[in-house]
Amino acid sequence: MSVKSPFAAIAHPLPSNGTLLPLVDTSDAAAIAALLVVEDPWRTLGYQEETVSRYLMRPDPALHRFRLMREGVLVGVLGIRYPWLRGPYIELIGVTPEARGFGLGGAVVTWIEEEARGEAANLWACVSESNADARRFYARRGFIEVAPIDDLVARGHAEILLRKRLLG
Ligand SMILES: CC(C)(COP(=O)(O)OP(=O)(O)OC[C@H]1O[C@@H](n2cnc3c(N)ncnc32)[C@H](O)[C@@H]1OP(=O)(O)O)[C@@H](O)C(=O)NCCC(=O)NCCS
Repeated sequence: MSVKSPFAAIAHPLPSNGTLLPLVDTSDAAAIAALLVVEDPWRTLGYQEETVSRYLMRPDPALHRFRLMREGVLVGVLGIRYPWLRGPYIELIGVTPEARGFGLGGAVVTWIEEEARGEAANLWACVSESNADARRFYARRGFIEVAPIDDLVARGHAEILLRKRLLG
């Protein structure tokens, strides 16, 4: 009997010409870290390249890590924590500025929902209070802002926990 395993470490083709590939190589982790730390929200929150690189590679069986590719080019990253709180938690999602606005981020979130459906009743995410674009991005996709959490990542900055209920 085969058992469905959400977020399997295999290639996942997406609409909008995207593909999620498992993130396993140190060189890919380093490339992603270099891209992230110069972009908000990570820049404002003071993330360091070395720390992000280590986070992406450290042993953590519940953190499913993928690089987002489009036409052979690295255009983003996904870190999904599952199992988490009666459903998966989008711990890290980022699309490079040049690749934004083409539906890739939306396709990733839809894919997560499809993977989790039937397995979990909730999908969780977190955004910085000041990240208006990401707040709108999640709101348009049915996420509700549950609670602000002060000083979670950096002193003086609030993060907002988001929840989407998954049906059936
Ligand atoms: C949030 C994010 C992952 C969305 O990825 P994306 O590939 O741009 O997502 P989509 O193309 O599916 O949707 C982007 C939205 O911005 C709009 N948009 C249009 N042109 C855009 C552009 N040049 N750049 C960004 N967004 C644009 C889209 O219409 C869409 O609007 P909607 O959210 O109201 O539906 C991406 O913007 C990102 O990496 N942001 C920085 C990191 C971040 O904030 N991560 C989330 C919290 S940690």
